[in-house]
Amino acid sequence: MRRLTEYADCAGCASKLDASLLTELTKDLPPETDPRVLVDYRTSDDAGVYRWSNGSALVQTVDFFTPMVDDPYDYGQIAAANALSDVYAMGGEPRTALAITSLPKDGPPAEVVRAIFRGGIDQLHRAGVSLLGGHTVTDPEIKFGYSVTGEVDPARIWTNAAAREGDTLLLTKPLGTGIIVRATRFGHSTPAHFEAAVRSMKQLNDVAAAAARKLEPGDVSACTDVTGFGLAGHSCEVAKASGVTLEITAASLPALPGALALVQEFLPCGGRSNLRFFTGFMAASSVSPEWVMLCQDPQTSGGLLFAMRPERVAGFQQELAAAGATATAIGRVTGPASAGGPVVRLV
Ligand code: CO
Ligand code: CO
Ligand code: CO
Repeated sequence: MRRLTEYADCAGCASKLDASLLTELTKDLPPETDPRVLVDYRTSDDAGVYRWSNGSALVQTVDFFTPMVDDPYDYGQIAAANALSDVYAMGGEPRTALAITSLPKDGPPAEVVRAIFRGGIDQLHRAGVSLLGGHTVTDPEIKFGYSVTGEVDPARIWTNAAAREGDTLLLTKPLGTGIIVRATRFGHSTPAHFEAAVRSMKQLNDVAAAAARKLEPGDVSACTDVTGFGLAGHSCEVAKASGVTLEITAASLPALPGALALVQEFLPCGGRSNLRFFTGFMAASSVSPEWVMLCQDPQTSGGLLFAMRPERVAGFQQELAAAGATATAIGRVTGPASAGGPVVRLV
């Protein structure tokens, strides 16, 4: 029987279209003019937001990808955790989901597909989300994911565009899933490395998001989840949208076991295109190339990146620790963006 990852050309979020091509493809679309559209695709945010007349707002996103693991139940769980993450990243609470599936005509067997669906729905239920339906097509590659709908208080949307000078940057998961998945595919990771990566990809961002929603309005100035464009790319998006410069301390970055040692050899194709696209916006002084490359690694179901008022950080970290989650301080918002200069400094 074919392994699940053999149905994919490029694994997981590493299969995301590269950032420069996406910009090119969407540049001529007419802008949305309905005043109820609060956030749309133009600001590189995680999800769109639409205000209802009753005061609340709808948050919507879609995410699906090729298998990055061979275990179908794990793949389903990872796809669900990843899709839900964009709703959390906007400050929303996910409520319902629709599944999106593409399957080759010649397989995989029905019990494998059922295990993917089961992994997904179990994860949705863990997050308190109901599956309402879905759509399936045939395709040479297996792809699976969800469109997720949630609810958000319009006054408390976390966008990419409001990161505030002086705020601390926090990251809720270690980096390196793209590297470990690729190294595993070529037989160069250990079972322990792979298990840690799978555990991290399956983990919901619900605990961190819920703790952050409990803070005072304005304590979180920006949030995004770290996925296909890597920490570097998603940091650049926040910096550019907010008109600020971010300083990230390489030594403080959480990394999956094995990721740094394997990065030179196994940075996925998506990481290479991130490196090309985002290098112009980034400066790295006296930081070893491994750390720079780790920041470009495309993450599948990565962590949330918060910009948070520094006075709130210790309490937030304590609350997460009590719930078995973590948020690592990785840097800060240092000041306004300098014209034409790098918007992210890795130090
Ligand atoms: Co996102
Ligand atoms: Co997304
Ligand atoms: Co956001």
